[in-house]
Amino acid sequence: MTDLRNAFLEYLGQTSPHPLALDIVHAEGCYLTDRNGKRYLDLVAGLAVNNTGHRHPSVVAAIKDQCDKYLHVIPYGEFIQEPQVRFAERLAGMLPDGLETVYFVNSGTEAIEGALKLAKRITGRTELIACHKSYHGSTHGSLSITGNETKKFRSRPLLPDVAFIHFNAPDDLLLITERTAAVVVEPIQGDAGVRVPTHAWMTALKDRCTAVGALLIFDEVQTGFGRTGKRFAMEHSGVVPDILVLGKALGGGLPMGAFVSARAHMKLLTHDPVLGHITTFGGHPLPCVAGLAALNVMVTEDLVGNAERMGALFKELLIHPAIKEVRGLGLMLAVELGDKDKVQQVVLDCLDQGVLGFWFLSCPTAFRIAPPLTINAEQVRSACDIILKALDRSSLRTAGYA
Ligand SMILES: Cc1ncc(COP(=O)(O)O)c(C=O)c1O
Repeated sequence: MTDLRNAFLEYLGQTSPHPLALDIVHAEGCYLTDRNGKRYLDLVAGLAVNNTGHRHPSVVAAIKDQCDKYLHVIPYGEFIQEPQVRFAERLAGMLPDGLETVYFVNSGTEAIEGALKLAKRITGRTELIACHKSYHGSTHGSLSITGNETKKFRSRPLLPDVAFIHFNAPDDLLLITERTAAVVVEPIQGDAGVRVPTHAWMTALKDRCTAVGALLIFDEVQTGFGRTGKRFAMEHSGVVPDILVLGKALGGGLPMGAFVSARAHMKLLTHDPVLGHITTFGGHPLPCVAGLAALNVMVTEDLVGNAERMGALFKELLIHPAIKEVRGLGLMLAVELGDKDKVQQVVLDCLDQGVLGFWFLSCPTAFRIAPPLTINAEQVRSACDIILKALDRSSLRTAGYA
């Protein structure tokens, strides 16, 4: 056997020439431990996945319990599987009217694909509108509506009839017309570097969609399940979409996605053609029980309130001449430095000091803070202390003193 790092580089398809390549052997709560026994305070949460912390005992117990009953038994939709039914029922119970039927898939991008197909089916229209700087996933449909040309030009041709509007720009709403099947929006843009729209824009967006008969699709893959200090980010504006897309934290740390819509809409997928949208593993019982357990933890441990409080504490403590702005809501934050080299230095310095932060896909001048929603005040203070010292060192380096 080759050593693990070399085997990682040789046998696994890579996503970049410079993976962090941390070799994690254990994860618990807000901490990751590597093979050398070094502990990292996790400010990434598996990229907005581990909202209940790593290996929450209730989530692990639910997974173990289900393992003793059954695992995969049939592709999605054919059998009654209690974990799926109870999870969907619970999700529907916490969502507004019109979002009562859940279609489970395996990832965020797959949920987007389902939502796009459903929107075309409901409206009989073809045009899709999305936002510049958005990220919706890496499969062809999702990539087509992703607003970052550098990530998509090698995959063309992509879906035809896709147009882009600027996020939070009222004038662009006129580009939504009677031809538009759906507008896909992250209610808070994530990989654009955490951009929060105004209430006025969100309301105008919904009104414009209603006026021209276009559907509104919210991609809450990153913003869902308490991340922004509300259960779902749409609660900040009160605007309810026609289709809601979920992923990441949905499966309690296991792979899962879902799109949610009105029952009458979802019924369209059952005929003409029959089996026109299917998935082998969608709604697998393990992510369903893990997701339901995580949802219960979110409520019983008030993770939504904690996200709001700890997010405010991060904003209060992260004051430094090098920080231009801390953007975001709850524990979905971007620390804007206005300088991509500084971001690089600070993220790597923090890593050295045992704090894991991360970059954004479409905003190189800021770094991400998105810890488990279980993080406590002491951990936030310790993380901020390390970040501020890393910023001091980076500023000294820039000034030529280090
Ligand atoms: C807003 C948003 N939508 C969709 C996706 C795609 O999800 P997945 O990576 O599970 O396919 C992501 C992933 O980062 C995302 O942030």
